[in-house]
Amino acid sequence: MNDEKAMTVYLNGEFLPLSEAKISVLDRGFIFGDGVYEVIPVYSRHIFRLPEHLRRLSNSLDSIKLINPYDNAEWTNILEKLVAGNEPEDQYLYVHITRGVAKRDHAFPNPPVPPTVFLMSYPLNTPPASLLQNGISAITAPDNRWLRCDIKAISLLPNVLLRQLAVDAGCAETIMIRDNKFLTEGSSSNIFVVKDGVLLAPPKDNLMLPGITYDVVLELAAENAIPHQVRKVLLSEVLGADELLLTSSTKEVLAITELDGKQIGNGKPGPMFAKLHGLYQNFKQEVMRA
Ligand code: PDD
Repeated sequence: MNDEKAMTVYLNGEFLPLSEAKISVLDRGFIFGDGVYEVIPVYSRHIFRLPEHLRRLSNSLDSIKLINPYDNAEWTNILEKLVAGNEPEDQYLYVHITRGVAKRDHAFPNPPVPPTVFLMSYPLNTPPASLLQNGISAITAPDNRWLRCDIKAISLLPNVLLRQLAVDAGCAETIMIRDNKFLTEGSSSNIFVVKDGVLLAPPKDNLMLPGITYDVVLELAAENAIPHQVRKVLLSEVLGADELLLTSSTKEVLAITELDGKQIGNGKPGPMFAKLHGLYQNFKQEVMRA
């Protein structure tokens, strides 16, 4: 970032430099983590899958009983202004909405107070060539989060602690296992298993975030006759995978080549990664940047 403080952000109806964006310490986002967020990639100043991101945002807001402050046309207008007001051409947008500022009480403010709406843009630095060539390492850990992981909630303490386990082990991501049995997702990514040429994806339920990149990857698999199954994926299948893939808006598609200190396959990104990463990059160039 050239000058982070000078970056233009949006706060409650105003565009202003980051250094001037201030909120109350009584904001329920600060006090309770009471809010939701979105992360949206932008390629060549085109916002990626905006309707899908706005739908997920609206689902998150409904789930926490917070009224959506804007309709889709208003969101689009504000987000496009934010993109235009920031550099470079490839960015990611961070959208953050909390239940607003009120006296500290767990129950919702009554009458309701205006929500806090904060948006910022960061340069989108997709993974460098070295990571694409070598893949990343990960660890497994019990998924000790709550039962509404489908909500993109700002209260991310479990995800933060789980990610730090990976960092402390010299790894990039933690793959979470529910009830010592099933794969859910990464601390900030979705995870796919490849076995015998079949791409396996855990189903979108209350135990994982319905990733927008996850959807793109499954669509690309369907369009290109890549065998795939959406079903519960067992821990034993994760540990015995031929390939493991990670997806997210900021990481796109990455191969995990080492898990819990052991090589996955031959320890190099495999053919499914090469295929899906290639398809994703084509899709990005041809559909998004066009
Ligand atoms: N995180 N699962 C979790 C827990 C995530 O936090 C994310 C993304 C994903 C992937 O979703 P998508 O493909 O829509 O980015 C799955 C974002 C990037 C973040 O918190 O920064």
